[in-house]
Amino acid sequence: MQLLWRKAVLLLVGATLMELAMSQGSSPAPSPNSGERTPPFWLGYATSAPQIEGANATDGKGPSIWDVFATIPGKIKDGSTGALADDFYHRYTSDIQLMQSLGVKRFRMSIAWTRIYPQGDGSVNQKGLDFYAGLINNLLAAGIEPHVTLYHWDLPQALQERFGGWNSSQVVEPFRQYAKTVFSAFGNRIKHWTTMNEPQTFCFVGYSAGSHAPGIRDQRQAYNCVHNVLKAHAAVVQEFRTIVPGGKISINLNSDWGEPYSASSPADKAAAQRMVEFWLGTFADPIYLGDWPASVKARIPYIPTITPELAKALNGSCDYFALNHYTSWLVMDKLGGETMQGRGDYTQGQYYADGSPLGNPAQSDWLKDTPWGFRKILNWVKYRYQPKELIVTENGFSVKGEASKALADVLDDTERVAFYRGYVNAAIDAVEQDQVPMTGYFAWSLLTNWEWAVGYTEQFGVVNVDFKTEQRALKASARYLASRFAGAGSNTTIGRYD
Ligand SMILES: *[C@@H]1O[C@H](CO)[C@@H](O)[C@H](O)[C@H]1NC(C)=O
Ligand SMILES: *[C@@H]1O[C@H](CO)[C@@H](O)[C@H](O)[C@H]1NC(C)=O
Ligand SMILES: *[C@@H]1O[C@H](CO)[C@@H](O)[C@H](O)[C@H]1NC(C)=O
Ligand SMILES: *[C@@H]1O[C@H](CO)[C@@H](O)[C@H](O)[C@H]1NC(C)=O
Repeated sequence: MQLLWRKAVLLLVGATLMELAMSQGSSPAPSPNSGERTPPFWLGYATSAPQIEGANATDGKGPSIWDVFATIPGKIKDGSTGALADDFYHRYTSDIQLMQSLGVKRFRMSIAWTRIYPQGDGSVNQKGLDFYAGLINNLLAAGIEPHVTLYHWDLPQALQERFGGWNSSQVVEPFRQYAKTVFSAFGNRIKHWTTMNEPQTFCFVGYSAGSHAPGIRDQRQAYNCVHNVLKAHAAVVQEFRTIVPGGKISINLNSDWGEPYSASSPADKAAAQRMVEFWLGTFADPIYLGDWPASVKARIPYIPTITPELAKALNGSCDYFALNHYTSWLVMDKLGGETMQGRGDYTQGQYYADGSPLGNPAQSDWLKDTPWGFRKILNWVKYRYQPKELIVTENGFSVKGEASKALADVLDDTERVAFYRGYVNAAIDAVEQDQVPMTGYFAWSLLTNWEWAVGYTEQFGVVNVDFKTEQRALKASARYLASRFAGAGSNTTIGRYD
């Protein structure tokens, strides 16, 4: 069974990749769907431009805040930059073949604003549009439907310098212009869009904690960012409705799950609820419920006001709920408890009182393998926001020590396989037993890539990339997901707009 299946995959892969798999040795393939349930949702892989493309100064691309941040000594853990990364810019043709060999039907990608408008606004860089036209057309020709994110953290540096980036509402106009240009170019070929990825991260880690670009430590700026994110999202969706009628748009919101530290403590229960309201509610409540969560409003005296006009523009601005989720925390009530989002009156941890972790620890210090929390947050979103459709747009695991392991051990990523087995099962339960309207699942990520401030030290890909040779090699997790989703509903909407 096992051998036959491996052979079938190799046959599909084509000569170059077959050689690669053989020359590098490959991990043992788990047997296909050996007694495992077929998911009632499709599988795709998520990526982002700054983490995979490289070519950071090619064909007229301008510098983003991450290009600049990475050059400041001490900001990136291993001193690396995304200047080359996976060199996807020059290698997408073979990466698309690799995806085909895995049976992948959906690919989440982002467009780099600085390729289209190198200085944020002004005149369009045609070569940037040409690059994405080539990528998108090649994906479609391969039967892979692209889901496109307009903004994955790579603000044009010029806009940070001109008016302070996301702190200023002046960001809305250039973002709207950029979005219009991209919708006009590709709206006839792309059905699924998102305006922005994880504003919780780029506002609070970028403008409050300061450990991400642009490296600012000012909580007020972070809340201005949140407010401007909502304004920009609403403005862009208005353009979308006229340029891409029938398309679907959303915003990728991320949240961990909060579990009460003491199940019998009502205060801890309320604190856990508050944690999810701070993370997810700060963005999703204004969109779905018309205002900030009361718990946030009561604790952040300087939070900007959501006007009735903004609430109206946000209402109905998401055609599906796009959720990024990785892990869970134990949450304890604590008066005066500070977070990067301000005073939340809670503390969070990932270890029980006896010192044991909440789940298998990843390389990333914030990530434990906690599939039960996935089912819970899917239910939380269902009850609070009642979305018609939900797509999980990121979910993945960084195996401890992977960056320094020998290749054979990297490819034998049993811990990542265990993570995906648990999380996929949890999502199946959420759909089949709890009626969560989840239709799709993007694993993060296809390729091991440049992981922002931790550089290349934390690896999430199911395909290993040797950063010296740029060679790709499948990990066991890539084979596992391919077999797990074989036969799962994977109808794409390719061609609908041509
Ligand atoms: C590209 O990356 C390198 C290395 O981080 C940096 O020095 C350079 O300024 C970047 N160029 C652009 C246009 O972003
Ligand atoms: C951030 O935005 C606020 C509100 O517009 C403004 O008052 C403040 O001066 C800005 N801060 C910076 C550093 O630009
Ligand atoms: C959003 O609009 C719908 C339809 O007009 C309305 O029924 C609903 O109450 C609005 N939601 C909010 C939060 O304002
Ligand atoms: C895929 O499309 C076919 C033809 O439109 C339809 O019969 C089938 O039910 C679809 N499958 C899924 C899983 O959506």
